[in-house]
Amino acid sequence: MSNLNVVIAKDYEELSKKAAEYIASSINAVPNGVYGFATGGTPVGTYKALVDLYKEGKVDFSKITTFNLDEYYPILKSNENSYDYFMKENLFNHVNVDLSRINLPNGEAKDPALECVEYEKKIVEAGGIDMQLLGIGTNGHIGFNEPSDCFSSSTQLISLTQSTIEANKRYFESEEQVPKQAITMGIKTIMLVRKILILISGSSKAKIAKEFLKGSITPKVPASVLQMHSDVTVILDKEASAEL
Ligand code: GLP
Repeated sequence: MSNLNVVIAKDYEELSKKAAEYIASSINAVPNGVYGFATGGTPVGTYKALVDLYKEGKVDFSKITTFNLDEYYPILKSNENSYDYFMKENLFNHVNVDLSRINLPNGEAKDPALECVEYEKKIVEAGGIDMQLLGIGTNGHIGFNEPSDCFSSSTQLISLTQSTIEANKRYFESEEQVPKQAITMGIKTIMLVRKILILISGSSKAKIAKEFLKGSITPKVPASVLQMHSDVTVILDKEASAEL
């Protein structure tokens, strides 16, 4: 399984605890570092466990800078389905992070192309990302880098595939309300991160977990590119590891 560090947790709760401990120890090692966060159903338990560690005095967020992976486009920050809203609800409102050092792609930007260039520039100016949390889509996407004929480069505006719209519509009132585009860090942006933690949970991810970890490196399975990164930890729960 290449050089990926694969950890199998007995269930979602154990996966969440292990992930929170990994993130907390990364922050404790570099308290003024740059941390990349992700959204989706998978990391919700991780953020809960991180908030618990914070309340126990085991991690201090006061000096970190954050960059989120992606955001729907267009979307208002006040929309409960925006990733801006998600991060505040699930993590930022509950810990001592400095709100002036939080960065997410702006789903309200008038000029999304310019927003992408500026977002990438901000990451570079911050000195790059020390640690990035990732999830994986059932189609193998990371961030919103959808299966394609080539790996994407830097932060960009993309069109969501029908399968992602289907997968994410559960969070919205109807499929029509799911934005059809998103701003996402590119594959190159993600590959430049110093260390990566990717979480895979549930039986619906078992097939893609196998393709990602044991299949060939192909832009048809965007996550497979991580096999070429030198510092990736993958935490799966038992259900997601069923086909390995
Ligand atoms: C979303 C996000 C990804 C996330 C993935 C899986 O569309 N853009 O960053 O990893 O899909 O989400 P979930 O954890 O809800 O399965």
